[in-house]
Amino acid sequence: MSLEALQLVSGTNIEPTLEVLKELRKDLSLEKFSAIVQRGEYEFRVLVVDSEVVGVVGYRIMETITRGAHMHIHDLVVSGRFRGLGYGNQIIKILSNHCEINKLSWIFLDSAPSAIGFYEKLSFENHTATLMRLCKK
Ligand SMILES: CC(C)(COP(=O)(O)OP(=O)(O)OC[C@H]1O[C@@H](n2cnc3c(N)ncnc32)[C@H](O)[C@@H]1OP(=O)(O)O)[C@@H](O)C(=O)NCCC(=O)NCCS
Repeated sequence: MSLEALQLVSGTNIEPTLEVLKELRKDLSLEKFSAIVQRGEYEFRVLVVDSEVVGVVGYRIMETITRGAHMHIHDLVVSGRFRGLGYGNQIIKILSNHCEINKLSWIFLDSAPSAIGFYEKLSFENHTATLMRLCKK
């Protein structure tokens, strides 16, 4: 299935998307989400079944020297009522297919501990530990 099987999030479907996204990003406001979507550097798509948003994914396609052209998934959530029905799997397969067609090297993501088993089933593996620190001293 092509990427078009997932609807691009824009002004018209932003509210039902946010409703599902908030199951993962509880404090995200409509103002902040709208501003991120409008900047356009970070793309959101939704899986719609029977006119209902069942899942949301937020990702960027970028190129770095070490990783080459790759996709980074920042957010993936399937609405609680629809979990365990294969929709998460479907979203990842659509993105993987898009990456393969466009010759992207890898899909990277930072998993929530509770979702690691899900990603492992879809052939994701651990890579070098990511470190972080607060910028503010
Ligand atoms: C993780 C999530 C996206 C999975 O979506 P889903 O639609 O429920 O998953 P699927 O039904 O496509 O499951 C695919 C397979 O992964 C398994 N699976 C699903 N969630 C799992 C989990 N948390 N841990 C281990 N395995 C999991 C399923 O049993 C299924 O296995 P099978 O193919 O052997 O039957 C969804 O549970 C979710 O939105 N969780 C809350 C938000 C979250 O944690 N997002 C990830 C942030 S990094």
